[in-house]
Amino acid sequence: MNVRFPLASHLTEKDNPMSQSLAGKVALVTGGSRGLGAATALALADQGADVAISYVASAEKAAAVVESLKAKGVRAVAIQADQGNRACAEPLIANVVGQLGKLDILVNNAAIALQGKTIDDPQIDNDAMDRQWAINTMGVIATIRAAVKVLPEGGRIISVGSGVGTRIAFPGLTDYAASKAAIVGYTRGAARDLGRRNITVNVVQAGVMDTDMAAGVLGSVEQLPPAFEQAHAIPRVAALSEVAAAIVFLAGPDAAFITGSVIDVNGGFTA
Ligand SMILES: NC(=O)c1ccc[n+]([C@@H]2O[C@H](COP(=O)([O-])OP(=O)(O)OC[C@H]3O[C@@H](n4cnc5c(N)ncnc54)[C@H](OP(=O)(O)O)[C@@H]3O)[C@@H](O)[C@H]2O)c1
Repeated sequence: MNVRFPLASHLTEKDNPMSQSLAGKVALVTGGSRGLGAATALALADQGADVAISYVASAEKAAAVVESLKAKGVRAVAIQADQGNRACAEPLIANVVGQLGKLDILVNNAAIALQGKTIDDPQIDNDAMDRQWAINTMGVIATIRAAVKVLPEGGRIISVGSGVGTRIAFPGLTDYAASKAAIVGYTRGAARDLGRRNITVNVVQAGVMDTDMAAGVLGSVEQLPPAFEQAHAIPRVAALSEVAAAIVFLAGPDAAFITGSVIDVNGGFTA
């Protein structure tokens, strides 16, 4: 027996592509004090969204991002919340709703990257690796679990992954890569669980970007090893704006039927 699919009746004339696509929406960007998170928060504000950012240590940088967001004419707040402590997730979401009234869009951006040592290296710090799992994986899951209690019909969850979540091109990436790959699996399951609410759940797998994280792992991104260059179809680092644009697209009305997907913005690293 055929099953009748509903038509996309929610798409109406009022969805004017010339207007700010996220006006009236409230977004939370975790790790919005620096790097891609700050760029994403600003890009969401450019589309009219009110934006909360979280951070763990950089209070001054977070405050500066909030000022830049407010200068764009949107409401903005910064909230300190350690993503490595799952108990912080519910208060973070409650804080966003308390200060901005609701939550429509969750961007799981905050992460750390510990790379360089193989898992059989006697010098590897497995406690630090466990902390990385706590932040990059369990903290993201805790934030999603808290958010789904308040996300409305049509809400958005976008998590920032990495190309190494699909293709581990070098030794020394195991725990970081796996912490990101786990989010892809969780995203697919969550997309299934939340589809009936028209909540979409997706991953944007970023390429190497010129941020503090990349500098900490790779040194200067201007002097990448030749093997790294060869791993990319387009051999350069990603602009923050290129990755943020994919996140903003997934947050917007034109992406209403994209869920459980992984979008690679990494110059063909995963090709
Ligand atoms: N940079 C790259 O080349 C690259 C490549 C692929 C994927 N990615 C992914 O892109 C995302 C952003 O990376 P990025 O390069 O912009 O990183 P970044 O420059 O190191 O910034 C990290 C952000 O996450 C926050 N954060 C770190 N630990 C946290 C914790 N325990 N609780 C709450 N917030 C925490 C930081 O807050 P504080 O400022 O308070 O510390 C900061 O806002 C990450 O998911 C990363 O894995 C990055």
